[in-house]
Amino acid sequence: MKIVICVTLLCVAGVSSVQELSGLVNGSVEIPTAVKNGGTLSYNKNIIVDITNGKVSVVGAEFAGRIKWNSRTGVLSISDLQMEDAGDYEVQADNQRSEYQLTVYKRQTQSLWGKNVQVALQ
Ligand SMILES: *[C@@H]1O[C@H](CO)[C@@H](O)[C@H](O)[C@H]1NC(C)=O
Repeated sequence: MKIVICVTLLCVAGVSSVQELSGLVNGSVEIPTAVKNGGTLSYNKNIIVDITNGKVSVVGAEFAGRIKWNSRTGVLSISDLQMEDAGDYEVQADNQRSEYQLTVYKRQTQSLWGKNVQVALQ
């Protein structure tokens, strides 16, 4: 008797959990993951915001004065966006990790078929 053992390889698809965010230069962007009680926001792996016991401290100098935290909703937002702000952001809150990739676009007026239109450039 021949026994054939079939091994099914469960292929875990490399589904990226990184969500995309976008904003315009001088505009603002909201980070969708709410930080209610405590957590951190990192930019390119460096912590830039630390929320502990309902108090927020912005650690990254380049984000000083540009990050707001709504203590009621837990939503963090970054204002006055610059091209240099593009990159990877990560929220860690309540043992959960959410990753985001931010793209910042420049708004420009361009002439297209004789008409001035607003376009967003990366
Ligand atoms: C952003 O704001 C600065 C200062 O107000 C301004 O000089 C610049 O043109 C703005 N850039 C864009 C792309 O809106």
